[in-house]
Amino acid sequence: MSQAFKDISFPAEQTAYEERVRALLGNIYGENPKACVITYGCQQNVSDSERIKGMLCEMGYSFTDDVAEADFILYNTCAVRGHAEDRVYGNIGAMKHYKRRKPDLILAICGCMVQQSQVSERIRKSYPYVDICFGTHVAHRLPEFIYNRLSGSERIFEISDENSDIVEDIPVRRDGSFKGWLPIMYGCNNFCTYCIVPYVRGRERSRESEKIIAEAREMVAAGFKDITLLGQNVNSYGKDSENGVNFARLLRMINDIDGDFRIRFMTSHPKDCTTELLDAIRDCEKVSTHLHLPFQSGSDRILKLMNRHYDRTAYLKLIEEARMRIPDISLTSDVIVGFPGETYEDFKQTVSLVEQVKFSSLFTFIYSPREGTPAAVMDDPVSREEKGKWFNELLQAQERVSKVNMQSLIGREYRVLCDDYGHTEGLLSGHTSGTAVIEFEGDDSLIGKFVNVKVDSYSNVLKGTIIK
Ligand code: SAH
Ligand code: SF4
Ligand code: F3S
Repeated sequence: MSQAFKDISFPAEQTAYEERVRALLGNIYGENPKACVITYGCQQNVSDSERIKGMLCEMGYSFTDDVAEADFILYNTCAVRGHAEDRVYGNIGAMKHYKRRKPDLILAICGCMVQQSQVSERIRKSYPYVDICFGTHVAHRLPEFIYNRLSGSERIFEISDENSDIVEDIPVRRDGSFKGWLPIMYGCNNFCTYCIVPYVRGRERSRESEKIIAEAREMVAAGFKDITLLGQNVNSYGKDSENGVNFARLLRMINDIDGDFRIRFMTSHPKDCTTELLDAIRDCEKVSTHLHLPFQSGSDRILKLMNRHYDRTAYLKLIEEARMRIPDISLTSDVIVGFPGETYEDFKQTVSLVEQVKFSSLFTFIYSPREGTPAAVMDDPVSREEKGKWFNELLQAQERVSKVNMQSLIGREYRVLCDDYGHTEGLLSGHTSGTAVIEFEGDDSLIGKFVNVKVDSYSNVLKGTIIK
């Protein structure tokens, strides 16, 4: 199959706009113009925001977490569930008085939510003080948007619906110094019937492997110790390109980069999870022993309605295969409770799958109808209240499983990457190669380094001690 999408470089035109914005900012805001970027949603959005901050940095902004002191405020939004959208509407509503107090403030909204036409129309009509609104395919044009608005143009709405080429070499300002995100592909082709992502992110596009390797090398050289490869369905990496590098191969190539670091990845779709991939995880010592493999529902009837392309038996077989090849693997998953037409019997099959697989942890969601998706028009007779009860039942089942899982770690030794423990003096937390987090006493100088820790106890948190 020929590659439908091109990789293009960050346009010189946008670099020129960055310079022009830089020249304007001092006149308007004085010495130290500040930007505040607020991000909702998944790691893909967090990673996009790091590139947005990279461009803002080139334009001469420094950063603040305090909206009150910002001269530029950007909300990078998520559309995956109604709750995420409601929070954004609440926040931009509150922006009205900031804008009144500080007329030169630029307020911008971007991301998955505004990629939906009904949302961008609502912002245009009901939030007249929003200056710039742009979709997921044109984020690299931010310098142009800011320049135009600062030089007096009308409000800017750029929601192109076209599947964009991949824009490489956008400046990036990473949030962390030793844990970082590395996007390997964008978009999704799966069209699970409940999900808005394919509509707001467009078709699957894989970055060229050389670009990914180059970025991974840069991150390792800069001291990153934990690199998470990102894509909505990483297992289909490379299917849209001709160079023959699939995801398993890509993992091996990144594993070959010199240095002491860990490779994580998300998300894997069960329908494309091959034994070739499991073997790559087993063979590559830098690849973490963790597989995030969303099953969404334990009922075959619901899986079919969801358009997931696997059934319960195939999923369980895959789990068995993964455990056989990688005995210490941590498994995590996403689950939806209350898909339209789901009965209590269907739901019980989800609970039984959770009890059978014994996931390390679970991300559980109550179904949220998304306008424009097939599930949004399916009959949905079960009340929200009833779904809430099922949801709690599932949480309790997983809590029982987690407790047993955690207790089984007592007495074992792990190599962990040290992080600070919520700024509590003298306490650190460390991530194992799987998903466990262990709390232990240690000096701040260890943050960002690997140490060996023995697990001593578990009650709500795992506690351990460093082994010399
Ligand atoms: N591409 C990933 C993740 C997509 S969004 C994957 O396929 O797994 C993350 C999770 O949000 C999904 O796995 C799903 O469990 C949940 N989700 C997506 N749409 C939803 C909806 N309409 N209502 C409730 N949960 C949803
Ligand atoms: Fe959504 Fe399914 Fe694509 Fe995941 S694989 S992003 S759940 S459509
Ligand atoms: Fe949300 Fe968009 Fe991610 S809809 S989950 S931010 S891809």
